[in-house]
Amino acid sequence: MRESAQAHRKDEHLSLGVNLWRQQNFLTPGASYEDVRWLPVVFPEMAVSDTDVSVDLFNHHFDWPFYIEAMTGGSELTGRINSQLAEVARTTNLAMAVGSQSIALKEPDLASTFKVARKQHPDGFLIANLGADHPIENVRAAVDMIDANAIEMHVNVAQELVMAEGDREFFWLDNLANVIAKSPVPVIIKEVGFGMSQSAIKTIQQLNPAAINIGGANGTNFAIIERRRNRQAETLNIDQFGLSTVESLISAQIMQNQYPIIATGGIQSANDVITSLMLGATLVSSAGFMLKTLMDDGQSALVQQIEGWQSALPRLLTLLGAQSNQELAEKQRLYSPSLQNFITQQKASPENR
Ligand SMILES: Cc1cc2nc3c(=O)[nH]c(=O)nc-3n(C[C@H](O)[C@H](O)[C@H](O)COP(=O)(O)O)c2cc1C
Repeated sequence: MRESAQAHRKDEHLSLGVNLWRQQNFLTPGASYEDVRWLPVVFPEMAVSDTDVSVDLFNHHFDWPFYIEAMTGGSELTGRINSQLAEVARTTNLAMAVGSQSIALKEPDLASTFKVARKQHPDGFLIANLGADHPIENVRAAVDMIDANAIEMHVNVAQELVMAEGDREFFWLDNLANVIAKSPVPVIIKEVGFGMSQSAIKTIQQLNPAAINIGGANGTNFAIIERRRNRQAETLNIDQFGLSTVESLISAQIMQNQYPIIATGGIQSANDVITSLMLGATLVSSAGFMLKTLMDDGQSALVQQIEGWQSALPRLLTLLGAQSNQELAEKQRLYSPSLQNFITQQKASPENR
């Protein structure tokens, strides 16, 4: 198959993204998951069998509080990966998002590289994905393409600005308001990995989305990926830009956000899932870490890894004396001095809101 420049970009994102994870090269700004410690409960007075880690959201019952986040589709190679990820999602009963379907709207031959996810996971909760500038007609087409249960509209100003061929104009709010009002499925507004401040969350709340994915800078770093793709000298270096996932979650808490929050960015263990839930996330998702396992160790290794998380979650809840994910939010935790400093500054600055 002869591939377009956009399809080639998909393959480059894949190989550079996996390489970042192999090298553990994230240059994470701000607080990470290690900056949040759990306090021992000692007397949980409950059994592991008392726990319930399921989540009700979007009028759907999710058996697990985490899912496979948006990455692939749009080229022959990434179509194969969508197929494998969807098979893993079906085996482990997880939800899954596909990568941006914009390319398949321009090149309809490539729709099959996304549709394969529905083929492999016929009864699964699948999430469509498009950029924030796509009009409602495209949203309907992307949802139809995979018979999606929800759609993520991704916001990625930082990524576009580093990309040589990226957008330079960002007028998204009116379009997003229209999409949210008219979409046939719940709309999630999603950052691709630079996090969200209190004021960004406040702006999104005014659009009334079904959920906000704060997509923090803690894992896959598109500033580095795009800089490596961009061989021109005048590229931007914003490798250390953004709020981490932990900082973004805490920002939502400080402003007493009531919209469902999804945590993405650097999730690589059941412990990270627990900390995210503790910091107010309703759902958690993981992209690059799962992709690396799939690419390096294969499909059954990824299934095993996910099953490991699924077996750990009820035990971790018990460790913390919580019967449900919601109860985790009330559990005591210790913040590192640098994270405590972030919280103090954020609480003290009304202009942040
Ligand atoms: C290879 C690759 C491709 C991605 N493509 C998309 C995409 O098309 N749309 C999107 O919203 N996010 C995309 N992402 C971002 C992820 O969904 C996620 O927000 C980000 O990688 C942070 O999570 P992580 O640290 O677990 O990887 C991609 C990530 C990777 C690694």
